[in-house]
Amino acid sequence: MNVYDSDRMKDSLEPLGYQESSDLQNADMIVINTCHIREKASEKVFSELGRLRKVKQRAQQEQNRQVKIVVAGCVAQAEGEEITKRAPWVDIVVGPQTYHRLPDLVAKLDPFQRNRLIDIDFPPEIKFDFLPEKLGKRGPAAFLSIQEGCDKFCSFCVVPYTRGAEFSRSVQKIMDEAKSLISSGTKEITLLGQNVNAWHGVGPGGKDWGLGRLIFALAELPELERIRYTTSHPLDMDDELINAHAEVNKLMPYLHLPIQSGSDKILHAMNRRHTVLEYLNIIDRLRSARSDIAMSSDFIVGFPGETDKDFANTLNLIDKVGYASAYSFKYSVRPGTPAASKSLQVPEDVKSDRLLSLQQLLDAQQFAFNKKCETKKFDVLVEQKGERKGQLSARTPYMQSAYFDGPESLIGKMTQIKISFARKNSLSAEIFNQKEVI
Ligand code: 5AD
Ligand code: SF4
Repeated sequence: MNVYDSDRMKDSLEPLGYQESSDLQNADMIVINTCHIREKASEKVFSELGRLRKVKQRAQQEQNRQVKIVVAGCVAQAEGEEITKRAPWVDIVVGPQTYHRLPDLVAKLDPFQRNRLIDIDFPPEIKFDFLPEKLGKRGPAAFLSIQEGCDKFCSFCVVPYTRGAEFSRSVQKIMDEAKSLISSGTKEITLLGQNVNAWHGVGPGGKDWGLGRLIFALAELPELERIRYTTSHPLDMDDELINAHAEVNKLMPYLHLPIQSGSDKILHAMNRRHTVLEYLNIIDRLRSARSDIAMSSDFIVGFPGETDKDFANTLNLIDKVGYASAYSFKYSVRPGTPAASKSLQVPEDVKSDRLLSLQQLLDAQQFAFNKKCETKKFDVLVEQKGERKGQLSARTPYMQSAYFDGPESLIGKMTQIKISFARKNSLSAEIFNQKEVI
């Protein structure tokens, strides 16, 4: 979602004459869009700001040029005042729900930049209504935020505090943005939300729509080839959404459905509000709807109170499901969340050991999944050049990165590839459908 937000900030600054630059030393404005989900991500912001201070000083001393430094995103939201205290060279601090005001804030900066502006409200207006409708250049595969914020309040998580309450964009706005992306060449859309499957909106005729219905509607757009959505919560996997996996060919057979832990006791303490069995039942229903669906998840190890037995249950669950990929993290204490004050914090070395064995298991599953893809053929959307000259890259329906030789003219088009060799994190392939190449 930060990628999406960064693009929208960029769109909103274009009318002021700004353009994206890859040249940090000569940039007039530097916006860092931050993540607050774990402590490490947050800490990075301050070390990055130290680096930017030097860039700003150099521009001032050597070229008498004022560089504007903006901190956006969830660290800005959570630590707004603290940022300007610890890093007074930051000019503007703007939160995830106020970045539509960025052009106004830039205009309000005094030319010698003696003022500091902090805007981290949760405003009554909806930022999407104030962002430019015209989107800048996006790739063949693009993101579209349809839902934001979270009302679930998992006890470890800062999102409900930094992104605010759940909000769903309207069907009309989403369809308009999808059409605009498609008209500029996008063929794959990933629908985004912190709780994307909690999305609901009023469709034509006043009927209430859920994400499943929305996916059916998007699939009707002729030039859209593929649809994905992330991130989902198990509690919001309703029948219509599961049915979309059975009936909508454009919906990719890959689902990121975080469970966090395989222990019912820990799930309860995390306030996830479902059991391991309920999660497994959802996966069964998904697999009955679409037999080739591949699963991905997030896991947290070392949540307060997690015993060896709880952890063993997580490994059991992973064995049972068989994941195509997954993200895993050590529990990170987040100030202000209920879990932060729990007494049974797990020692750091125990967390590290558990993370290592969990990741070994997940890596082995990922590699086995990739291996199973050898000799298979996939229709793929060619997204960009690969690392080597003459090489292209695409994502398979299962989100694996595939590399193959082919002409650059294929970028942005669909083609068929055959997987020749699998590695842990990527696949080598060759173009199978030669007709498409000519
Ligand atoms: N510590 C560790 N991991 C966390 N996540 C969210 N909050 C924390 C935390 N305090 C992980 C969860 C979530 C993902 C986006 O980040 O696994 O699904
Ligand atoms: Fe955080 Fe996701 Fe839980 Fe919401 S559902 S509180 S975003 S982990």
